[in-house]
Amino acid sequence: MTSTVSSNPASTNPLDRFRLDDKVVVVTGASSGLGVGFARACAAVGATLVLAARREDRLEALADELRAGGTAVLTRRTDVSVLEDCDALAAAAVEEFGRIDVLVNNAGIGVAGSALRQDPDDYRRTIEINLNGTYWMARACAPHMPEGSSVVNVASVLGWAASRYPQAGYSASKAGVIGLTRDLAQQWSQRRGIRVNALCPGFFDSEITSAEGADNLRTMVAETSILGRFGEQEELDSALLFLASPASSYMTGQSLVVDGGLSATI
Ligand SMILES: NC(=O)c1ccc[n+]([C@@H]2O[C@H](COP(=O)([O-])OP(=O)(O)OC[C@H]3O[C@@H](n4cnc5c(N)ncnc54)[C@H](OP(=O)(O)O)[C@@H]3O)[C@@H](O)[C@H]2O)c1
Repeated sequence: MTSTVSSNPASTNPLDRFRLDDKVVVVTGASSGLGVGFARACAAVGATLVLAARREDRLEALADELRAGGTAVLTRRTDVSVLEDCDALAAAAVEEFGRIDVLVNNAGIGVAGSALRQDPDDYRRTIEINLNGTYWMARACAPHMPEGSSVVNVASVLGWAASRYPQAGYSASKAGVIGLTRDLAQQWSQRRGIRVNALCPGFFDSEITSAEGADNLRTMVAETSILGRFGEQEELDSALLFLASPASSYMTGQSLVVDGGLSATI
């Protein structure tokens, strides 16, 4: 009788699919908050890093830390709302490392305020950075991404659900990123072999969530989410590594929500 259990050589460890050995990973917004954690997590599983943001001193400090651990790192000052900056970042990554395997489109800002009082310039800037910057970076990197590559767009649970926090521009920008993710996946996944997914965090410590006026966020999360607390960086890193690596090779055009059950409550 033929066994229905397929052979599984002892050397095949499912966790190997989460590794990024020698993959070239571009992380935008790597000067603070979640982007720093994402860069550290990718380096820990073998990646080569390209770090981008506007504050170069912060990028260099992180690069020094990662290089001390044996990771190859390139830093580049980049404003993702400037198309030419994005093209220059992709070109620099390719010149240094030959290709781009993973783009972590993480750069973003969060400006809160009631819809009728929000400064129109803040609204425009939020869309320029969070939505348009995500698009410019994906366009700049895609031509240099080989088959099997992955784009992870860091959106937000606020792209799916309203919280009790007034953020019209931010919510619109992140809903836009989720739509952009689906469309780029449709255009690139079969034709170019580039998967495109969105990571939608709930609330985590960072400069955005510790900004002035954000002090009532913890109470809101405690009262409205199932787990009743902010997430920890490592609880998001594992989701990021899943989307970035071959572990999610049958997944594209999707959004992965990591929010402690915030969006599951009514
Ligand atoms: N923390 C959360 O709870 C949470 C929840 C959902 C989604 N997110 C998303 O996670 C991402 C990271 O945010 P964070 O929470 O880690 O906040 P953060 O600590 O403020 O980090 C934001 C990062 O984006 C960079 N950035 C901002 N504008 C930029 C621009 N024009 N060009 C290039 N880089 C720019 C900043 O670097 P420079 O200022 O040096 O340029 C910084 O490195 C954002 O997309 C945010 O919307 C965060």
